[in-house]
Amino acid sequence: MTGKTNMITQIKKAETAIDEAAALIKRGELVVFPTETVYGLGANAFDVSAVKKIFIAKGRPQDNPLIVHISSLYEIKEIAVDVPDIFYKLAARFMPGPLTLILKKSEKIPYEVTAGGETVGVRMPDNDYARALIAASRPLAAPSANRSKHVSPTTAMHVYEDLCGEVPLILDGGDCRVGIESTVLDLTSDVPTILRPGAVTADMLLSVIGEVSFEGRVLKVAKAPGMKYAHYAPTAETVCAASIKSAVAQYDKKLADGFKPVIVARDIYRDAVQDRAQISLGITAQDYSHNIYNALRVAEKSYDYIIVEELHGDGLEASVMNRVRKAAGGKTV
Ligand code: TXA
Ligand code: MG
Repeated sequence: MTGKTNMITQIKKAETAIDEAAALIKRGELVVFPTETVYGLGANAFDVSAVKKIFIAKGRPQDNPLIVHISSLYEIKEIAVDVPDIFYKLAARFMPGPLTLILKKSEKIPYEVTAGGETVGVRMPDNDYARALIAASRPLAAPSANRSKHVSPTTAMHVYEDLCGEVPLILDGGDCRVGIESTVLDLTSDVPTILRPGAVTADMLLSVIGEVSFEGRVLKVAKAPGMKYAHYAPTAETVCAASIKSAVAQYDKKLADGFKPVIVARDIYRDAVQDRAQISLGITAQDYSHNIYNALRVAEKSYDYIIVEELHGDGLEASVMNRVRKAAGGKTV
């Protein structure tokens, strides 16, 4: 359940409303802002009562920590202590960008941000509006701007659908370029550990640091605290299809059972899909990642059974499958 404060929610073009947004943040209010991954629901990271509003607006469990978004590396000293050299190596290569690094928290960061823990996630978004807002106000504690457990938002309208009445202002910066959430890398463990895969892949990290522990390859690695919740779930039943052939077979079976199914797949299977309902994910893996959350939100509105094409590669393909398998609750046909 969300907070139901019934405030008026305005959507404004990001380029026209940075000052207004910064003023809201400084007053302890929430602002939704665009990033290159997904939209974020931001509050002044140093303001306990502002941060608490995030959890109420989203209906988010208190034990799921928030990422602190920065606009420049100078802000780190207020947020983290004992920052290791590899942080700066990784920052030089991937910041701004879709990478969150977990560090030891400073005293100034409230436990409301870190869910009671001694570590804090830090990320510099690759989005000019996001960084301008942060530079004009404060570092922003921000989760994805969806209702808790729903699909993450990649357009301002997705946010509006989930959080209308809960936030005063949504900055509309258009479509999010990457389309899935940032890679989360824990730098407080002995070996840097990927807690959530994303567009900065294990191979990319390995090009900068010597070793990385990756959930998919090293078993029994730690999970991000939030990962135990069933994230990213559309409101309609969703399954993965190992191949387009099994997608088509499942479609026909469900149609015969009286369902209204849809195939969500790249646009390269016209002959196989024929006149069955399809939502296209474009052609490349980048297209797939960019389009997947919007496709799931479109699908759940008009269909009651969603069949999503599985990708079988590594890198970005593996990261995006991490989200799709969650959306499908692990079900594959
Ligand atoms: O791309 C993104 O990261 C987006 C945009 C808005 O920046 N944010 C985002 O936030 O996806 P959220 O809250 O939806 O997901 C953050 C993830 C959660 O799985 C959380 O548990 C993990 O990062 N996380 C945050 N702080 C952490 C910490 N101190 N230790 C371990 N995991 C942490
Ligand atoms: Mg989220």
